[in-house]
Amino acid sequence: MTMDWMNQAVPQAQGLYPYVPGKPIEQLLREKGIAEATKLASNENAYGPSPKAMLAMQQAIAEVHRYPDGDSHALKAALADKHQLDAAQILLGNGSNEVLELVIRCFAGLGDEVIYSQHGFIVYALATQASGANRAPVQDTPELGHDLDAMLAAVTEQTKIVCIANPNNPTGTLLSNDALQRFLDALPPHIITILDEAYDEFVCDIKQDSVQHLHHPGLVISRTFSKAYGLAACRVGYAMANANLLEAVNRFREPFNLNSLAQAAALAALDDGAWVMEKVALVKQERTRLELALAQRHLLAGKSFANFVLLQHPKALELHQQLENMGMITRPLAGYGLPELLRVSVGKHEENEAFLQALPIALTRLKATV
Ligand SMILES: Cc1ncc(COP(=O)(O)O)c(C=O)c1O
Repeated sequence: MTMDWMNQAVPQAQGLYPYVPGKPIEQLLREKGIAEATKLASNENAYGPSPKAMLAMQQAIAEVHRYPDGDSHALKAALADKHQLDAAQILLGNGSNEVLELVIRCFAGLGDEVIYSQHGFIVYALATQASGANRAPVQDTPELGHDLDAMLAAVTEQTKIVCIANPNNPTGTLLSNDALQRFLDALPPHIITILDEAYDEFVCDIKQDSVQHLHHPGLVISRTFSKAYGLAACRVGYAMANANLLEAVNRFREPFNLNSLAQAAALAALDDGAWVMEKVALVKQERTRLELALAQRHLLAGKSFANFVLLQHPKALELHQQLENMGMITRPLAGYGLPELLRVSVGKHEENEAFLQALPIALTRLKATV
């Protein structure tokens, strides 16, 4: 008998689909039979991690036969110290992705509602669906930013969580300090706000540190080592929130969710803040260069505050394919309902240069196919 396992799965599995990540370089090389490719598709830090983090991982290798510290004590203490919080106000995750999922799983179930912005980070929708709760997307502002007033107006008796990405991926928008403050003050205190700050290091010089808002009982701030810190493969993210709230979330956390190499790398990376901010400055410089080049070609869609730029073209998906044919991986946003946009992560100078060289050729080839 052939079983249809989809029918046996929990009801929410029907509306679920796997997260589609940026295409790995190896996959494009295999598909196209080419020798080299550049990936500008997953908002990583192309400069890699701090040398101190790499050394710490090498040293930690000798102990991989031991289970890691399940409480990530040293890393948690270092983060608490950095943010002037109690260690009980920090929860570590296998990437901030896990943090987002754990909070949603802990507080939203069948019949509950999770509000997020229409073009907010896709994991909010996926994690909500997986938890069995109802998804409540709210329309963006015309600039593709979060409309916090509309999100407040969307709150119902069933609302348990509101997810906000600041800056947002994939639209690159940033909320003003005032708008965020007003939102947090107006939201009923029993509702959780997940404030996802995966790209915080790219804006920390132009916005208030939201840790100051942690007196709001339901505020959960999430951050990551995957972007500015250059440790995407290590999978380290964390939440900062009220200790009692995190105690509940912690019950859903898998034992040993953070492996020992990741703990060692993140701890060493934290100790090399100057290195991170130097690379952030480089990324921002390169972002400006990319934005200017796209603007000159009338292809720039808005200002991005994160480590990527947005390219607008009526045939963005076809342009993405032409770029892939030339070994250049970008991220089409059709899956986000933005079929005219491509998200291009800021790479190293030479990678961005290669992209800017490839772009006019891809555009010419695209024109030839129409
Ligand atoms: C807004 C946002 N939040 C969270 C994440 C998850 O990152 P990670 O799980 O690597 O920490 C990403 C990754 O792209 C992101 O863009």
